Amino acid sequence: MDEDTSGSSKEKPVVAATSPIALELEAGTYWWCSCGRSQAQPFCDGSHVTTGLTPLEFSLEETRTVYLCRCKQTKTPPFCDGSHNRLT
Ligand code: FES
Repeated sequence: MDEDTSGSSKEKPVVAATSPIALELEAGTYWWCSCGRSQAQPFCDGSHVTTGLTPLEFSLEETRTVYLCRCKQTKTPPFCDGSHNRLT
């Protein structure tokens, strides 16, 4: 049963992959998929539209390598925190 009493119903994120993806990204703004349904992982492609979930905007000040979460269980989105190792 859904415990959300706010009036909105959110679906749970789905696991897009059980490992993070390492990417070298240039400075700029990105939209990380939080719902797991995007076909353009780890970025949003609009597939969240019926889920009640929304992508997470993040920005980089300079080019750097990042490890972006694809299991969607991370506590430090959009970055991997190792939560994929605890999936059963
Ligand atoms: S497609 Fe997953 S948050 Fe947009």
